[in-house]
Amino acid sequence: MCGIVGYIGYRDAYPILIKGLQRLEYRGYDSAGVALFDGNNINLAKTKGKVEDLSKKAKTDISLKGTLGIGHTRWATHGVPNDVNSHPHYSNSGDLVIIHNGIIENYESIKKELGKRGYTFSSDTDTEVLVNLIEEVQKTEDVKLGKAVQIALNQVVGAYAIAVFDRKKPDEIVVAKLGSPLAIGVGDKEFFIASDASPFIEFTNNAVYLEDEEMAIVRLGKEIKLRKIKDDAIAYPNILELQLNLEEIEKGGYDHFMLKEIYEQPRAILDTYRGRLLADQGIIRMAGIDDHLEKFLNANRIIIVACGTSWHAGLVAEYIFEDLARIPVEVEYASEFRYRNPVITDKDVLIAISQSGETADTLAAIKLAKERGAFVFGVCNVVGSSIARETDAGAYTHAGPEIGVASTKAFTTQITVLTLIALKLAKEKGEFSSSKFHEFLTELETIPAKVERALQSDELIKVIADVYKDSNNCLYLGRGYNFPVALEGALKLKEISYIHAEGYPAAEMKHGPIALIDEQMPVIVIATKKGHYEKVVSNIQEIKSRKGQIIAIVTEGDEQVRNLADHVVEVPETLESLTPLLTTIPLQLLSYHIAVMRDCNVDQPRNLAKSVTVE
Ligand code: M6R
Repeated sequence: MCGIVGYIGYRDAYPILIKGLQRLEYRGYDSAGVALFDGNNINLAKTKGKVEDLSKKAKTDISLKGTLGIGHTRWATHGVPNDVNSHPHYSNSGDLVIIHNGIIENYESIKKELGKRGYTFSSDTDTEVLVNLIEEVQKTEDVKLGKAVQIALNQVVGAYAIAVFDRKKPDEIVVAKLGSPLAIGVGDKEFFIASDASPFIEFTNNAVYLEDEEMAIVRLGKEIKLRKIKDDAIAYPNILELQLNLEEIEKGGYDHFMLKEIYEQPRAILDTYRGRLLADQGIIRMAGIDDHLEKFLNANRIIIVACGTSWHAGLVAEYIFEDLARIPVEVEYASEFRYRNPVITDKDVLIAISQSGETADTLAAIKLAKERGAFVFGVCNVVGSSIARETDAGAYTHAGPEIGVASTKAFTTQITVLTLIALKLAKEKGEFSSSKFHEFLTELETIPAKVERALQSDELIKVIADVYKDSNNCLYLGRGYNFPVALEGALKLKEISYIHAEGYPAAEMKHGPIALIDEQMPVIVIATKKGHYEKVVSNIQEIKSRKGQIIAIVTEGDEQVRNLADHVVEVPETLESLTPLLTTIPLQLLSYHIAVMRDCNVDQPRNLAKSVTVE
């Protein structure tokens, strides 16, 4: 849950590192640091706070010279966020310096051993233990840095993406990966190291993504050498040509990435079905499904695993798969699934949903399902991510980079992919007539324009946000397909505005939460025309008679709810199973505006990080 960056080449490393860290701040932002080699010495600056604080500190405290350096932006696991616990960390001799994303689980016992040999530690981190273990191996075994890293890593248990260099041999950076991502950008006489490709995209389109248990010695003037950490076998770097472009990772005139990403949804949804949804030919083409169709058609059930917003997309998918394709579905939190000894057979298909493709619990759930014989399919946004590589097959969402910690376009594009899959399977299973299938395909094609229309309520939502920005609690209600949307709306509000919010199936309200309702309680109700409309209207009446404040998300032209609700936001009409793609939009905007009005850090909410690569 940290971002790491490194550079070795002929340019000044510092600006590359700082800019790279800013782009990686979505991965963690409680402290940051850089270490630069100036030709003789290592100059290191680190601080609690954001990369901006680091850059102020570095400018006054250290020489910014050097064409070799590493940097880190942290999401604390071991040790509170403070200056000392920030990375990079020196070894005791001061010759080695390291950055690390991950957790060394057995660091306590290693620390004890090193302590007996005279090592001292200034921080509470597992990372400082690792760099000293590498130093100890270097000394006792009299080996070069690369070999020392390899021997040390064979003694640790945990997850890591590391970059380490040696003041005495400043023509190389040694990197290694297990469980946390690590990319090497390959330029002309220069190399870049980063948690993802965003720090180096303006310098090179060529990148090597390390596999788990691989390490590399990145040496000036040499080709990258990859090795397996366990058995020293040589691995051959697969240099990929990246599709990413710079505009995609910049704010493009928006105040926040989150707002930009909300507004990108019409384009993102279109990109996600483009080339797959061929309405005029009456087909859905998805290689990941086409190549394994029998697995899906013969499956006893589909198990969906995910976390957070991706789990909410999984819940929407449960409705779609069961409703349209008549395939039984179970949706599980990956973190629970992995530890509860689930019954899995080779007749099960497991779908793992993850924006980042790096979520540790989801990865662990995949590994468990594979061990037990299930066919595993991934729905990821980040190309080449660990989950994308670990699964048997998959389909990417084409949302483009999502940088705001609060997931927005990832959610709607995940639903888009899952809808395509459900429709395809429904057709293959004969659950749909050609005309019904065609109706769905053509309606799906209208969604980007309808999302565009839903976005036009932005000003109205700002006015509503102003009324409720000081609330302490908020309830979100929905039924059927819109129950998961209620959960998602509540999560969005909680995570970026720190207002306590709960999502509930509307009919469950009377089994408990109704006790919370009084004139102070805003209740956001999704009450679109298709899908239990009359029932939801009754629920609204129950809230009204207890003086709750109602903000209703309704279908364009609705009059009945308008007469009951305090505020009404309209979305265009669509098929019931596609409504989540539209009803989500006002809820995202409402959370966004409330968070801005409360002066919260929208893109980097407290205590969170974009990808949760630790348990
Ligand atoms: O990258 P993933 O989709 O696997 O991430 C899962 C969750 O961590 C993520 O959706 C999280 O809940 C978001 N902050 C929600 O906005």
